[in-house]
Amino acid sequence: MGRVKSDQKQKSWSEINKTRKEEKRKWKEQNLVRKMEKQKVKEAPKLEQNNGRQEEPPTVSIAVPGSILETAQSPELRAYLSGQIARAACIFQVDEIVVFDDFGDEATAKKAELEDNYGLKTMRESCVQLGRILQYMECPQYLRKHFFPIHNHLKFCGILNPLNAPHHLSKDEEFEYREGVVLNKPVKPGRGSIVNVGLLKEVHVDKLLTPGIRCTVKLLPQQESSKKLKGVVVAPSIPKIETGVYWGYTIRLANSLSKVFSQSPYKDGYDLTIGTSDKGTSIDEFQCPTFKHAIIVFGGVQGLETALESDNVLNVDDPKFIFDHYLNTLPNQGSKTIRTEEAVLVTLSALRPKFNYIVSCAE
Ligand SMILES: C[S@@+](CC[C@H](N)C(=O)[O-])C[C@H]1O[C@@H](n2cnc3c(N)ncnc32)[C@H](O)[C@@H]1O
Repeated sequence: MGRVKSDQKQKSWSEINKTRKEEKRKWKEQNLVRKMEKQKVKEAPKLEQNNGRQEEPPTVSIAVPGSILETAQSPELRAYLSGQIARAACIFQVDEIVVFDDFGDEATAKKAELEDNYGLKTMRESCVQLGRILQYMECPQYLRKHFFPIHNHLKFCGILNPLNAPHHLSKDEEFEYREGVVLNKPVKPGRGSIVNVGLLKEVHVDKLLTPGIRCTVKLLPQQESSKKLKGVVVAPSIPKIETGVYWGYTIRLANSLSKVFSQSPYKDGYDLTIGTSDKGTSIDEFQCPTFKHAIIVFGGVQGLETALESDNVLNVDDPKFIFDHYLNTLPNQGSKTIRTEEAVLVTLSALRPKFNYIVSCAE
């Protein structure tokens, strides 16, 4: 009897152990799945779904005054400084760079013309040069000869460090999306245009477009033998929305500080505005709210005070009143002054972990 009892006891212990092991395995599995889900949200906040629809990822814009080029001592240094802004924007996946005139369109300043994403603008020459170099740097190399005729402002751009942005694809790199230029080639009635997207084969797209314009093309699955590739023209924002891959920045020129905000390309403007200054509050205490469209504004040699003084629309006497947050992004700085191009890098890297709030906002 005693033997039978201990067998039963043994059996039930081994069963208990088995159940425990099974539970532990399940718990481990669930934990792993939870960890992977969390990681997925962190890595691809842009691909969050909304009722089966891709949700537009939040955007980050920066605004810098063109006058920062005026203190550079030589044309080479002016180009290099512009290249530093372009690289900082690309490294931190900035969607829009606003080049603004912090001297408020001074009548005596030398002016020049540049077409930004919204039309032809006449601006202070330093703003135009910074805008032009930023546009040049963002454009994939294979398209530059189509969009950038020889210009004095671009004279030293050949020596600048390239952006190496994901949309700067070589002819051997494979990616679903490519930037292209519409070619002036005859097409049959009812057919779309022919586009050069930097591959050996040209692409036949679905729409008839004006020759010479830049467009974003989604390449369709191809037959090896066909002479031309097939593609669909999409909005430039689509590659980032669909794949989460950074697809470069746009350039906007603004004649004054107030126009940085009032001419926002987003329907409801920017919902998070950040001004930067060594007189701001410490970034260490800053908690980033959720946002759809953020803008971070930098001042020139004399700070944002100059931009505010030169503006005829903004009627306050301290820049801190025009932003949601006015931040010192390098508390206890060692040098007495941080240059604008340095402040862009410092600020974007200090804000980057705080912008992770976007992740929870997409949840
Ligand atoms: C040469 S500083 C301007 C002078 C001034 N000390 C200031 O910060 O307002 C040029 C720009 O760099 C940025 N900057 C400089 N120091 C900063 C800091 N500690 N925190 C945030 N931005 C700073 C601001 O955008 C500033 O307008």
